[in-house]
Amino acid sequence: MASDIERLLLTPAQIADACARLGGEIGSRLSGRDVTAVCILKGSSLFFADLMRCVDMPVAFDFVRASSYGSAAESSGDVSVSHGGVCVCGKTVLLVEDIVDTGRTISKVKSHMLDLGAKEVFVAALLDKPSRRVVDFHADFVGFEIPDEFVVGYGLDYNEKYRNLPYIGVLKRTVYEK
Ligand code: PRP
Repeated sequence: MASDIERLLLTPAQIADACARLGGEIGSRLSGRDVTAVCILKGSSLFFADLMRCVDMPVAFDFVRASSYGSAAESSGDVSVSHGGVCVCGKTVLLVEDIVDTGRTISKVKSHMLDLGAKEVFVAALLDKPSRRVVDFHADFVGFEIPDEFVVGYGLDYNEKYRNLPYIGVLKRTVYEK
């Protein structure tokens, strides 16, 4: 598997440090509010689990599935959101996202939460690729700004593979240009 990786971008230690920093920022900013943290499946699963353990305040959990119907390399504007969990009505929602790329997915999920009656919505993103933005969007808590490279690992996939890598790496072009 590692032979498909061109180079390491973020080590497990760097990711853990970012979770600790972001957890502290979230605790300072959202303390005292009725917070529901929402994991956007599937890519955010590992980040959500690690970040939540770094947030020192009571939070409820919820999960949404967001999928776009673009290619494996880029999301389209057609994003579906399915949500079968607890009510976010009147709550402060913290959306937890692995990566903000074009911004289409997170914009759609944020609107969906507001439509469901959330009082306010904050976004924590581990990775941010501002150079790829199609929809104007700024996350409230950002782990790393990264260049426009095809990254996988720590929840992020290519054709559903590589999510289980404990680090984030740049995928070899030969893998996705086959
Ligand atoms: C990926 C990623 C983000 C989204 C970012 O999800 O997890 O949710 O794309 O791209 P965008 O900013 O261009 O919309 P994907 O739809 O691939 O589903 P997954 O989380 O199940 O991998």
